[in-house]
Amino acid sequence: MDTERLKGKNVLITGAGRGMGAANAEHFAAQGANVCLGDIDEGAAQETAERINAKGNGRAIAVRMDVTEREDNRAAVEATVSEFGMINVGVFNAGLNKPRFFMDIDEDNWDLIMNVNTKAMWLGMQETARQMIAQGKQDYPYKLINVGSIASRKPLVDVTVYCTSKYGCLALTHCGAVALSEHNITVNGYAPGVVVTPLWEQLDKDLVDIGFKQKEGQAYEDIVRDALQIKRVSYPDDVIGTAAFLCSSDSDYMTGQMIHIDGGWCIQ
Ligand SMILES: NC(=O)c1ccc[n+]([C@@H]2O[C@H](COP(=O)([O-])OP(=O)(O)OC[C@H]3O[C@@H](n4cnc5c(N)ncnc54)[C@H](O)[C@@H]3O)[C@@H](O)[C@H]2O)c1
Repeated sequence: MDTERLKGKNVLITGAGRGMGAANAEHFAAQGANVCLGDIDEGAAQETAERINAKGNGRAIAVRMDVTEREDNRAAVEATVSEFGMINVGVFNAGLNKPRFFMDIDEDNWDLIMNVNTKAMWLGMQETARQMIAQGKQDYPYKLINVGSIASRKPLVDVTVYCTSKYGCLALTHCGAVALSEHNITVNGYAPGVVVTPLWEQLDKDLVDIGFKQKEGQAYEDIVRDALQIKRVSYPDDVIGTAAFLCSSDSDYMTGQMIHIDGGWCIQ
């Protein structure tokens, strides 16, 4: 691994207490980035930051934030700048899912998912871009990285609101790329399929609860058999390389792209 590849990148990552956000933070820091880990679960973010600092390449700090609150987004950006001097990259990763069939969706389900997955991404992008614009143009682009999903592209009947929220992430990636290019800010994203994390473990149970699957583990089996070209589920380690690429100068000439890391699900 090139331990200098992300040197000089100061990165804010939301939802970095566990799952893919934590894995990304560790991988970025191992390549020299300084990382600010934002999460509503401050203890989890703190533990991840301590693990990173114990390894001793890029540095890490943890902040408690609810991504749905503008003030918390602003404070997380400020914490990144005050600790590391400036912010170069924002990764908007915090997200959740709660499956419902179309006719069972209610306002609570809608608001919960849309607020955390989509509204919060817009707030995070805006507050991060505001700081980047204030910092002035550098020789290299600033980067905003949005976490989408296979659900940014497929109408999955059991998770309509999640799909709506993640199609929204794709729209924010396209619109942000157009709106922010004049400030030398690129906007890209990546879209996982099935990644074994606490989010998926809960989803697997919830799919049985709503009657979409008969037993736990069935969703994994059905998707691998029917939808994936690479015949296995994925893990955070399958995702971190693409995320690091989007963070690095290797992706400087890209904007408005959502890269699928989904075992070929999106072509099915
Ligand atoms: N796991 C998958 O199969 C999968 C597939 C496609 C996309 N994704 C997306 O990847 C991203 C990360 O998912 P994951 O599987 O690692 O999830 P996860 O549940 O393991 O981690 C999500 C993190 O976000 C934090 N979070 C939740 N609500 C928050 C809020 N309001 N404010 C701040 N932090 C909050 C949680 O505390 C947690 O640490 C999400 O956007 C998710 O939609 C996941």
